[in-house]
Amino acid sequence: MTSIDYTERIPNNVELSSDRRLKRALENWQPRFSDWWAEMGPIGFAESEVYLRTAIGVDQSGWAHFGHVRMPDYRWGIFLSDQDPQRTIGFGDLKGSPVWQEVPGEFRGDLRRLIVIQGDTEPASVEQQRRLGHSAPSLYDLRNLFQVNVEEGRHLWAMVYLLHRYFGRDGRDEADALLERHSGDPDQPRILGAFNEETPDWLSFFMFTYFTDRDGKYQLGALRESAFDPLSRTCDFMLKEEAHHMFVGASGIGRVVQRTVELMVQHDTENVVPYGGINLDTLQRYVNFHYSVSLDLFGSERSTNAANYYASGLKGRYGETGYDDDHVLTDHDDTYLCVVDETITPTTLPARALVNHELRSEYTNDCDKGLRRWNRTLIDHGVDRTFALPHVGFHRRVGAFADHYVSPDGQLMNEDEWAARSAEWLPSDQERAHVGSLMQPVTSPGQVAGWIAPPSQGINTKPVSYDYVRL
Ligand SMILES: [Fe+2]
Ligand SMILES: [Fe+2]
Repeated sequence: MTSIDYTERIPNNVELSSDRRLKRALENWQPRFSDWWAEMGPIGFAESEVYLRTAIGVDQSGWAHFGHVRMPDYRWGIFLSDQDPQRTIGFGDLKGSPVWQEVPGEFRGDLRRLIVIQGDTEPASVEQQRRLGHSAPSLYDLRNLFQVNVEEGRHLWAMVYLLHRYFGRDGRDEADALLERHSGDPDQPRILGAFNEETPDWLSFFMFTYFTDRDGKYQLGALRESAFDPLSRTCDFMLKEEAHHMFVGASGIGRVVQRTVELMVQHDTENVVPYGGINLDTLQRYVNFHYSVSLDLFGSERSTNAANYYASGLKGRYGETGYDDDHVLTDHDDTYLCVVDETITPTTLPARALVNHELRSEYTNDCDKGLRRWNRTLIDHGVDRTFALPHVGFHRRVGAFADHYVSPDGQLMNEDEWAARSAEWLPSDQERAHVGSLMQPVTSPGQVAGWIAPPSQGINTKPVSYDYVRL
């Protein structure tokens, strides 16, 4: 196992001290990152001490240290999972040949683009969430927000390291540009749509970490398969951190559902708004919104780029080794839904053309698990309702349904029908205002806002009532 050197200005396990040029370049970038954090990161709380985890190793046992730190003092660093010298390419035309430790010239542009697109999402989410600290439902939640934020900052470091180390001048320019684009900026927006949406309230934050961060999990999982070994090892370690982000979203929404059904039972009503809760209908509409914008992140179902990435070993499927096929896919077909003659029609194509569709389908299955858990909560409280993911064609801007209007239950409709009914399916301004009105900060240890149930346990064996943030 490679240990992390914390005596360096930039903590790392890539022997940065042995590469003076690279070290100098990254040390030049570091103050720009700090400036970006100060300007575009969490508003306020720079002096607060937050109970954060910091990576201290990359192996299974005890990879993180927990302790109170001021966020500007967080030790962002470069951590790659250990190298497996035997590793070979697991899929595509080059399956079975050794993985690459340097970037092959012919794939330089494609690999740089994949890294830049991933890298762009990391600081974007920090920017989107920067105002949330002032309305946290508890110190426990506030700490989780900041944990996610500092780790997204670290993920930016992960991608910037790859750009600086392997892509020369172009890479350094791209690393600078990652700090110049900003979420929602009309002139220099982030690359992907969902990362330019606002995250105005904590329900949106939990939905974002559940649905949008989960896209990140699937993209990182696909890049972990990459033949470019440093990218694979980088993504492998990022996924370890990402698990907590998934937890924040899943448990956050679960706690809101819990609180809503408690209020429903207690007051024998479906409308819990007068009691400071969030109605199930509203939660479903938030699910509809966040799920549909997150589906767009997977790109077009049918994609020549994705087919080429798969063929050349740049980007695989999530959990590639788990697939019971030849991992080459030249003799395989796959089926996706698209609109043919004004009808939603299953359409079969060579599997390589539908790699994005496959990744997205796995994502959908994963999303569904949370809904099943929340539905279990409804059943346990005798509530005769269920949450459901909307149809894949609902509210889409990318791919086969980008130019069509589809209801959550999969009915194709015209623009007028959509205009008449879409308000039933997406959060209204009034609902957003109600959710916004609930966002009053709760800052005493162990206290939790009334619209969400308390967490079932604390962080790292600490009690729920622990002072996770010292304001
Ligand atoms: Fe991330
Ligand atoms: Fe994340």
